[in-house]
Amino acid sequence: MTPHHRAKLPPLQIGNIRVDSPVILAPMSGVTDAPYRRLVKKFGAGLLVSEMIASRAMILQTRESVKKCRRSADEDCTSVQLAGNEPDVMAEAAKLNEDMGAPIIDLNYGCPVKKVTNGYAGSALMKDECLATRILDAVVKAVGVPVTLKMRMGWNHAMLNAPKLAKAAEDAGVRMIVIHGRTRCQMYEGKADWAFIRQVKEAVSIPVVANGDIDSFDDIDDALRLSGADGVMIGRACYGKPWLIRQATEYLRGESPSPAPSLEEQREIVLEHYRDMLDHYGTETGLRMARKHLGWYAAGLRGAAQFRREVNAMTAPEQAISRIMALYEDQTAGSSLV
Ligand SMILES: Cc1cc2nc3c(=O)[nH]c(=O)nc-3n(C[C@H](O)[C@H](O)[C@H](O)COP(=O)(O)O)c2cc1C
Repeated sequence: MTPHHRAKLPPLQIGNIRVDSPVILAPMSGVTDAPYRRLVKKFGAGLLVSEMIASRAMILQTRESVKKCRRSADEDCTSVQLAGNEPDVMAEAAKLNEDMGAPIIDLNYGCPVKKVTNGYAGSALMKDECLATRILDAVVKAVGVPVTLKMRMGWNHAMLNAPKLAKAAEDAGVRMIVIHGRTRCQMYEGKADWAFIRQVKEAVSIPVVANGDIDSFDDIDDALRLSGADGVMIGRACYGKPWLIRQATEYLRGESPSPAPSLEEQREIVLEHYRDMLDHYGTETGLRMARKHLGWYAAGLRGAAQFRREVNAMTAPEQAISRIMALYEDQTAGSSLV
């Protein structure tokens, strides 16, 4: 990211909660788990969102769902995201999470994957405005904490009903809307339509956050200028760069964004993240879950492909830790000749 001109935004007000930064880390299943969120939080993120949790699994207290929504003491700024399609079940899941300390409940009306939409949850709810609204009503009534909603522009381009649903959500008592500027049918194809988000912004008076394809300061400027949104949510651009949310926050405060950490600092960040993943998941799962992060951290470094091959085959954490250290040593070795 290189700064150009400075957009400036105030903090976000979500119901009675004031979030210091208008930059939110996007929920990403399999990526923004507790270890990753802890890391991003250390870099001063305002609001984080849990991975999507299936409401029915939550009320049945399946091991995976309980693990996903269990919060550590320092997770005061993590909202819990619920998916599902049964108003009473979602309300109960929301209440359970509130009782467990969730400061905000986020509802997922955006997930495009078939496994979720076939169950008529995620973005499929955008096709059924009546059910979508019943869920919003039920969840808002069930909890005292603010409820937020994340959705796409609509199911497809013939059905761009995000502004209408946003208004229904505001009327139901929802406190913030995040819009990923794509339709369900686009999945992740094409380019996010930041200008469309302005229609949502104009339909409601609660905060609206723009999401989709934001990965530079220029993108932040363009997304905000086109959408008029009150904040930005950043997902995939944070792969391998947990410090990005801090830089974007500084940028939107009108400060000079701090530089990316030095290679030495990055090595320490990667090691800390790696060890935390092993702690969180246990060795076997931790090793597997950490692979994609290691690949992202290594992207662009000398010897990245070789590193990925080797580290993906390793089954002993100590061996992988040595290999991570070697990767970063290789970057500085001989650099004066370049
Ligand atoms: C691997 C992956 C997992 C995701 N999981 C979720 C999720 O659990 N809940 C959700 O609301 N969105 C999820 N998303 C969507 C993101 O939150 C975000 O809306 C989308 O990636 C667009 O933002 P970006 O271009 O900044 O990544 C996921 C996206 C990716 C790539």
